[in-house]
Amino acid sequence: MTDRVAIDAPAKVNLRLVVLGREESGYHSLETIFCGLALADRVEIERGAPGIRLEVEGGIDTGPSQRNLVVRAAAAFFAELGEKPAITIQLEKRIPSSAGLGGGSSDAAATLRALNALHDQRCSDERLLELGADLGSDVPFFLTPTPYALAWGRGHRLLSLPPLPVRPVLVAHTGEAMPTAAAFERLAELRGGHHPSLPVSVGLEEVSGWGGVAQIAMNDLSGPAFEQIPRLAEGIASLSAHGAAVALLAGSGSAIFGIFAASAALDSAEEAVARIGLKTWRTTTLDAWPEPVWRD
Ligand code: C5P
Repeated sequence: MTDRVAIDAPAKVNLRLVVLGREESGYHSLETIFCGLALADRVEIERGAPGIRLEVEGGIDTGPSQRNLVVRAAAAFFAELGEKPAITIQLEKRIPSSAGLGGGSSDAAATLRALNALHDQRCSDERLLELGADLGSDVPFFLTPTPYALAWGRGHRLLSLPPLPVRPVLVAHTGEAMPTAAAFERLAELRGGHHPSLPVSVGLEEVSGWGGVAQIAMNDLSGPAFEQIPRLAEGIASLSAHGAAVALLAGSGSAIFGIFAASAALDSAEEAVARIGLKTWRTTTLDAWPEPVWRD
């Protein structure tokens, strides 16, 4: 029996993020298009002594271990199997946190996928999705068949889409966090409590190619984010000016990203956003989720 498995936990961006009304749960109903990125954390799980131990590398504060989504995901998985946990999880953080890139959610989903691989896929895909949904709004996306999906509701209802051709991406971040709850609160205030209710139709042709995506790309949480961190608007304008076909705030912020037709354009774009004081990461979009890798 193999005792050790590793898996990459990719970041995500939202190519379209429309915030609709507030649900009874307090969460806002969304209409969103998720896209996975090659930029990824790494989760490695090894069978060991009883309990769940978490070792974090990468110098990013992930908070108290018992509250970490990875530990909660592992606890939920073993509860589902009706077994006592006996594992060590090594988490290598590369995705900037509190940046709207879904790092914590992806780590949780990768943990569920790696544990299921270690346990002969005893948990069904549907059950894994349910466990993921209980952990956080963005987790289910990372458990769908492809890294490109239309989602609605809280993001728990998903239509998996055929992935688009891989494109170079520049991610940029000021290092300042934008708490998700504050972004939604501020948007509700800015809207005076009136959320959009006009009918909108998005065509299949728009989600089937990068040209179409550029037409419908938007993020309703840009207003609150730009208000708090004005350099983000400057950064997005700079990405567009340097050739990004799509340049947006990532999720609820505070990272921004640009999607380019070719990597040649990345040099000047990277220089320009670095001049504004943003840290940058070069990556690409994904056309398939990374698979678990067995380790000796
Ligand atoms: O998804 P997560 O639990 O990280 O969200 C944090 C907070 O952001 C929620 O408690 C809620 O206040 C707000 N939120 C929202 N609507 C969403 C997602 C998050 O109002 N769809």
